[in-house]
Amino acid sequence: MDFNIDELIEKAFAARINAYAFYSKFKVGCAILLKNGKYILGCNIENSSYSLSMCAERVALFKLISEGYTKADIKAIGVIADCKNPISPCGACRQVFLEFLDLDTPIILSNLKREKKVTNLSELYPYPFDLNEVK
Ligand code: THU
Repeated sequence: MDFNIDELIEKAFAARINAYAFYSKFKVGCAILLKNGKYILGCNIENSSYSLSMCAERVALFKLISEGYTKADIKAIGVIADCKNPISPCGACRQVFLEFLDLDTPIILSNLKREKKVTNLSELYPYPFDLNEVK
């Protein structure tokens, strides 16, 4: 890998500190490393109307898009949470990743023990729904 995986995960851990997980108590942090070296951070943000809650991955990705970056700017994504095994992103986040990530962009999943699973979207989301491919 031509980036620092440990630094990526520590940035995700720092993002996790701001998680607003009042209901689930399950805090998640996400860091997206850009090719220019900048990190965009996200944490999960819950709501008393539960379904309005937003995952850390989508917060980070939406921040990135709203700041004018595109998939061409993304080098890698790191996610961390307090799990037995490295966190597994939810299905909704996988679908949103599909919109804004290349299939081979490194996705580094971790837990508080700093165990790591290095994966990508083609592995996490096989046979996806993609409106650009349906016809
Ligand atoms: N959550 C994330 O932020 N990312 C994941 O990959 C899995 C789930 C959040 C959503 C909710 O706030 C809490 O974790 C429990 O589901």
